[in-house]
Amino acid sequence: MPKTAILGTGHYVPSKVVTNDDLAEMFTTSDEWIQQRTGIKKRHFIEESGIGASDLAVPAVKAACEQAGVDVQEIDAIIFATLSPDYFFPGSGCFLQRKLGLGQIAALDIRNQCSGFLYGLQIADAWVRTGMYRRVALVGAEVHSTGLDFSDEGRDVAVLFGDGAACVLLGPTDEEDRGVLDVTVHADGSGAEELWIEAPSSAHVPRMTQQMLDDKKHYPKMNGKQVFRWATEKMPEATLAVLGRQGLGPQDVDLLVPHQANRRINEMVAKKLGLPADKVVHNIEVYGNTTAASIPLALSEAVRDGRAGPGSLVLFAAFGSGFTWGAGLARL
Ligand SMILES: CC(C)(COP(=O)(O)OP(=O)(O)OC[C@H]1O[C@@H](n2cnc3c(N)ncnc32)[C@H](O)[C@@H]1OP(=O)(O)O)[C@@H](O)C(=O)NCCC(=O)NCCS
Repeated sequence: MPKTAILGTGHYVPSKVVTNDDLAEMFTTSDEWIQQRTGIKKRHFIEESGIGASDLAVPAVKAACEQAGVDVQEIDAIIFATLSPDYFFPGSGCFLQRKLGLGQIAALDIRNQCSGFLYGLQIADAWVRTGMYRRVALVGAEVHSTGLDFSDEGRDVAVLFGDGAACVLLGPTDEEDRGVLDVTVHADGSGAEELWIEAPSSAHVPRMTQQMLDDKKHYPKMNGKQVFRWATEKMPEATLAVLGRQGLGPQDVDLLVPHQANRRINEMVAKKLGLPADKVVHNIEVYGNTTAASIPLALSEAVRDGRAGPGSLVLFAAFGSGFTWGAGLARL
């Protein structure tokens, strides 16, 4: 059975930059509070209404294909991870397929929030290793800015998120020393309401009411302290599990590319693993939390700035809504 190689990476963020000071003009917050608690300085938002997650994904996929030296038309499957799909249905993968002008290839949407990239990586790895597909575009893309509560009530969540997209192109390799080595993913639904959007909801008749809008049920709600506590426990646990299964330890890792939820979370995870600061990728400062896009976006940047390259052993870790979490290990 061949292994699954990361053939190329690409990312795209919209051009509109929103600083912490910009947010402080909308609700009661400060650059100091946001930076101190999260590490975030700014984020990117879509420039205008009408730009969906699938639109942001188009240039990200093209960049990944270009880096891989693969024609976009060779993509034979899409996995689209997002919690902010263009529409309730159909999936954003179908829109992306159409916008890229691809043939009638498979387009799978997955809804695993901040862990979406790792869930997608596990699926793509299985597809490629079994010979089902040869060029899988694994996309993470989010447009958060159209769904945040920019008032004092929603400020704990609104400061965290940014828009963006990234893609990892995956395909088979016979190279001994290359490829996805392991991915583990988990979920614990006991934490489902700790970070969620309640409406619109198919469990309610009707799915959306004026009362729900007035009660702001269509905005994300989060128990930040719970998320923080779980993330700093589960991310080290999952990463040590995948390393252990490969007979490796944190000292063998060239680069940790964690989900970018909060700089403090990632610093604590790195500390628990005993990883020095120069082996951890942080870009939350400039993008905020781009959820399913954050790991591939950080990887794409690391590859472009030379921090990761052929032969690098890269460790991935994520935690998010669901709760869901996971870790992955790949040799580039
Ligand atoms: C969200 C988070 C930064 C909040 O930090 P915290 O230290 O837990 O802060 P608290 O929620 O205790 O709030 C402290 C105070 O700041 C206030 N506050 C909340 N958001 C604020 C903001 N944007 N600006 C200024 N003050 C804010 C609170 O109202 C509270 O005020 P009070 O003490 O008068 O009640 C932190 O909990 C966190 O990062 N959690 C993880 C979130 C995450 O990663 N989510 C994505 C998961 S994928």
